[in-house]
Amino acid sequence: MSQIWTPDSWRNKTALQMPNYPDQAQLQAVEKRLAAAPPLVFAGEARTLKALLAKASIGDAFLLQGGDCAESFSEFNSQNIRDTFRVLLQMAVVLTYAAHCPVIKVGRIAGQFAKPRSEDTETIDGITHASYRGDIVNHIDFNAASRTPDPERLWTAYTQSAMTLNLLRAFAQGGYADLHRVQGWTMNFLDTSPQGHKYSDLAHHITDALSFMEACGLNAENTPQIRETQFFTSHEMLLLGYEEAFTRIDSTSGEWYDTSAHMVWIGERTRQLDGAHIEYARGIANPIGVKVSDKMSPDDLIRLIDILNPENEAGRLTLITRMGSDKVLKHLPPLLRRVKAEGRSVVWSCDAMHGNTIKADTGYKTRPFDRILAEVSDFFSAHNAEGTHAGGVHFEMTGKDVTECLGGGQNITAQDLGNRYHTHCDPRLNAQQSLELAFLTSEKLKAHRSFSKSNKS
Ligand code: PEP
Ligand code: CO
Repeated sequence: MSQIWTPDSWRNKTALQMPNYPDQAQLQAVEKRLAAAPPLVFAGEARTLKALLAKASIGDAFLLQGGDCAESFSEFNSQNIRDTFRVLLQMAVVLTYAAHCPVIKVGRIAGQFAKPRSEDTETIDGITHASYRGDIVNHIDFNAASRTPDPERLWTAYTQSAMTLNLLRAFAQGGYADLHRVQGWTMNFLDTSPQGHKYSDLAHHITDALSFMEACGLNAENTPQIRETQFFTSHEMLLLGYEEAFTRIDSTSGEWYDTSAHMVWIGERTRQLDGAHIEYARGIANPIGVKVSDKMSPDDLIRLIDILNPENEAGRLTLITRMGSDKVLKHLPPLLRRVKAEGRSVVWSCDAMHGNTIKADTGYKTRPFDRILAEVSDFFSAHNAEGTHAGGVHFEMTGKDVTECLGGGQNITAQDLGNRYHTHCDPRLNAQQSLELAFLTSEKLKAHRSFSKSNKS
């Protein structure tokens, strides 16, 4: 890895999961337009996130990363953005309150469009077309024209990301996220559920605490932490031509940043040590995530860390494990042990979704709530046993009342899945399931933190 890095040095390596654009000239024209377009984020914000993640790596903060599996062009509207934002706010409040731990909020949003696929093509009734790779690449309809990769979609994804981010910034800083509104973040369909009641109780306690603080002189006017929140964006860095177009030199530090999002991650299918995605990622200064399944060996993990975080910078690298609930206790501990033994600084985060996908009898791709919870639970147990820090969680979720994952308090059955199955890709937790998971995770986090503290003293 001694070769010189440039924003396009990935082009000399093998890049898996890239679309086959029939019109290369048009692709280059769109990439050129993107390279001249304003960045979506500022390098200083990515540095702030990195500093927060550095805290998560030593147990002083906790990462909550979540959102759609894939954003879509057709479901782009302000309600969907608001609903995702507020369920993440609710989850963060639950985690912060129960575990007394700062929560770093990172959305899979404002750029999470491109999807890796296990097959390049899809065959239905003897007819074969290219696989759907997310709205940034092609259209989900099953016909030759829809499935042909269209470079103009890169531009549409960029403009949608810019509009989404604009609203998220307004929500985060314009008063919507003021803690005094904690009661107002509830959604109608949540109010009567057990999670809704539990949340309402917690909101009362927070409102009480705010009144107490106000009496002591701390209020929304003099304490920005009460009035506003920090919200960061992330997506899988899959289409490297798109990411390259947003790779800009930061004038403050002189370093290269990918300005398409604060944090970008490498997926399970594109993390080959000699591949293009790792090559691109090593040169940008953003906080980076890498998905890690049961197939990762401790040796390969150290090699990967050597490439992506040679300076052992805290907050630079988040390892997002996605083992499957039946595999965590076998495969995670050897990785934790090795990384700890080698003194590598990482944030360990638990993606409890991608190892727990099954096909229901009714044909729907789904995920059982119990397996998602079991993966989170075993993640914490493994960290407790190894004396390492459980640094965060990663969920595919929505603020809507969809029926995509089985179980939870509403006890969604295989028969119910068809009622409101709206995802363009993987099944997501609905708002109630997300909140339920936040409550259950907060108990694990609380226990983990007191366990870590008692082991330190
Ligand atoms: C995803 O996060 O949507 C995804 C495709 O995950 P993974 O790379 O872990 O399969
Ligand atoms: Co997914």
